[in-house]
Amino acid sequence: MYMVFDDKFSDLGRSLEPSALTQIMNMITEDVISFSGGLPHPDSFPVEEVREMMEYVLTNEPVTALQYGSPRGNEKLIAFLAARSKDKEMKVTEKNFLITSGSQQALDLLARVFLDPEDEVIVESPTYLGALGPFKNQKAQLTEVPMDDNGVIPEELEKILQARRTENKQVKFIYLIPTFQNPTGVTLSLERRQKICSLASKFDVLVIEDDPYGELRYAGEKVPPLKVFDKTGHVIYLSTFSKIFSPGARMGWVTAHESIISKLVYLKESVDLHSSTFVQSIVYEYCRKNLLDQHIKDILPIYSVRRKAMLNALETHFIKDVTWTEPEGGFFLWATLPDHIDTKDLLVEAAKNRVAYVPGYAFYPGGQGQNTMRLSFSGVDESQIDEGIKRLAAVVSKEISK
Ligand SMILES: Cc1ncc(COP(=O)(O)O)c(C=O)c1O
Repeated sequence: MYMVFDDKFSDLGRSLEPSALTQIMNMITEDVISFSGGLPHPDSFPVEEVREMMEYVLTNEPVTALQYGSPRGNEKLIAFLAARSKDKEMKVTEKNFLITSGSQQALDLLARVFLDPEDEVIVESPTYLGALGPFKNQKAQLTEVPMDDNGVIPEELEKILQARRTENKQVKFIYLIPTFQNPTGVTLSLERRQKICSLASKFDVLVIEDDPYGELRYAGEKVPPLKVFDKTGHVIYLSTFSKIFSPGARMGWVTAHESIISKLVYLKESVDLHSSTFVQSIVYEYCRKNLLDQHIKDILPIYSVRRKAMLNALETHFIKDVTWTEPEGGFFLWATLPDHIDTKDLLVEAAKNRVAYVPGYAFYPGGQGQNTMRLSFSGVDESQIDEGIKRLAAVVSKEISK
């Protein structure tokens, strides 16, 4: 069936197909302890509060909730987000905001307003798999910049930017997940945040700061978002209610220079008119009643016990040739195995032993990192983490000793 109508599709339509990763992931059956998905834990969903807010909204604001709305988003929700961002020391006003259907839509809109085919985007190596889709759909050229335990390395970034300046070429933007990065769990240091903001101004290059996990810190010292150090409007900040409220709400936002917001609003209007007014009303009421901060406090322990359980299990069961990151927040950690191990092949064996992860190559535009893996602790029951890591360690040990 799949070949039918093939001559009708656009270049983009023709290029769309399930990724190799989707095919691998389909091997994962229900009885597998899966560290692969980056899903929030179901216990973190504010079910009763959503029920109450829905009732409230339908009783008090039925028209706002059920009528078409403005493409930019619910004004009251924007005012709330602007005030919250100012509390975090971002120098912004309501004009700097757009409500999106999750950060994923923000990435798609940004890719489309900025990128023509062959335009260059710099990404962390490795980076968020879901951002690669929108960038590749625009046929962008992706340049990877190396990271270490303190995030992306500014000196390496500067080398690339300097080289492009010499060649008289423009980099369209740098895409970063500075806090509790997906996939590595690593956080960009304070010093590097300042350095990267000054590079952005010096080289007049935009930076997309994707921050879905910043509020989920379980250890260590808070670091302000990159956007706080942005004096020239080069940083485009993205965040979302997905991990602190519900991903099913599909509710996120962009904070950027007004000129960028305007373009995104025009595009969004033609894409989906606006994000759901119903959900925006519910989320706004939730925020207005001051429930969000308390909710974040309430859900932190759900993840912090799982993070601890995974770190303990790795310490207990893993062998000396394997290393891993120790994230202070977010959902993920990143393990590196001896060079000769291919985690894509190993996944077949792991799935047979009823444990799964995401092979690291999927997060590199160039497909390297064959000896790495992403392990997510967010959605797995604490009692299963030790057993899952034990199974994985056994599979890895067997492979190493081959
Ligand atoms: C780094 C990163 N960006 C964006 C997203 C998409 O988030 P949303 O649910 O808001 O679309 C995710 C989701 O996992 C993510 O990890």
